[in-house]
Amino acid sequence: MRIYKRNILITGGAGFIGSHVVRMFVNKYPEYRIINLDKLTYAGNLANLKDIENYPNYVFVKADICDYDKIQELMKEYHIDGIIHLAAESHVDRSIKDPFTFARTNVMGTLSLLQAAKLYWETLPEKYEGKRFYHISTDEVYGALEMTNPEGIEPPFSTTASSSEHHLAYGKDFFYEDTKYNPHSPYSASKASSDHFVRAYHDTYGMPTIVTNCSNNYGPYQFPEKLIPLFINNIRHRKPLPVYGKGENVRDWLYVVDHARAIDVIFHNGKIAETYNIGGFNEWKNIDIIKVLIKTVDRILGNPEGYSLDLITYVTDRLGHDMRYAIDSTKLQRELGWEPSLQFEEGIEKTVRWYLDNQEWMDNVTSGDYQRYYEEMYKGK
Ligand code: NAD
Ligand code: TYD
Repeated sequence: MRIYKRNILITGGAGFIGSHVVRMFVNKYPEYRIINLDKLTYAGNLANLKDIENYPNYVFVKADICDYDKIQELMKEYHIDGIIHLAAESHVDRSIKDPFTFARTNVMGTLSLLQAAKLYWETLPEKYEGKRFYHISTDEVYGALEMTNPEGIEPPFSTTASSSEHHLAYGKDFFYEDTKYNPHSPYSASKASSDHFVRAYHDTYGMPTIVTNCSNNYGPYQFPEKLIPLFINNIRHRKPLPVYGKGENVRDWLYVVDHARAIDVIFHNGKIAETYNIGGFNEWKNIDIIKVLIKTVDRILGNPEGYSLDLITYVTDRLGHDMRYAIDSTKLQRELGWEPSLQFEEGIEKTVRWYLDNQEWMDNVTSGDYQRYYEEMYKGK
């Protein structure tokens, strides 16, 4: 049997960001064995990883992170020495309807992984030496920032990711690594809680943990309940675009592959017990991004300019809707030399084209066919 240099457990690898991380690690590090553990909830889809499913250094395990016994077994079976933990319930609107599922997976699931890793690593002669527990979190744990500059101003930072045309900041504050946690939604509250548990395992038991908090991601393979894929699909099918409130909330967008690149750099070179914020200094009001999506989809489909603007439909606001998120990622840029590789216009163009070119993927996930297919395949496993 082949001996791998590292055995890395990636949780949530069949989801949006996880699939990009798994793909990057499997391709870039043939000397590592990558074990993708995923429960395959509605958000998990193995079709996201078709291109690498037969690679010799890739293993898929269908399991729930809350299944503590199973995780303990897997730690031993695969000699896991690194964990990159992405599995989570991730959609704010669902958390408002069903907070229990979020507490179970995001809090108890993270705790179950931490404890299983602790028990296994503490039995080894070298203990925590060379080990990593890397927890992927969100900027939403910091709460919401104020819109002190509703018209937008030149931000105090510059980056390759920001759009040449846009490049505005909507307030003077940003989220820094030491910004106090102040989550508002059940989703962000559950992520905040899991972040605290991860840090507690470092502070109490000496586990080598790292936490990163990233801004909103966009790109291929995102489940179409989230703004960007949902709206691209609706524009294509001439369905209404449900804009919450006035559409003035601000989000800071990062291309998903740039997040995966950051995860790679931090997993290998990040300092134990540190937190890194990940973001591209790329703030957009929802309504502005929606207009960019309309313009891009219409142009690619050959519709006249402005053709789909009539689909914009203002609807009741999300409960507790956070006004503005904006990440300061200078620490990561300064200390580890990471910076985003794509300008926003380029990322959006690629993303829109990907969804338009992959209608079959979209039809499968919107019909739920992928779940029936994989349920059959993993029956009894
Ligand atoms: P996603 O919803 O697309 O994927 C989540 C994955 O986790 C799915 O494959 C799902 O099947 C799996 N999963 C859910 N519950 C599970 C369980 N109990 N056991 C095992 N697997 C389970 O999410 P995403 O957008 O890819 O986000 C991944 C991580 O990144 C999450 O932790 C999220 O909080 C964080 N994050 C997301 C964003 C974003 O913009 N999407 C931004 C910052 C941080
Ligand atoms: P979303 O993609 O759900 O990410 P998050 O809530 O984690 O930021 O939403 C992005 C923004 O778009 C958020 O301000 C809510 C808004 N939104 C709408 O206006 N309409 C929609 O149908 C969705 C899904 C989101």
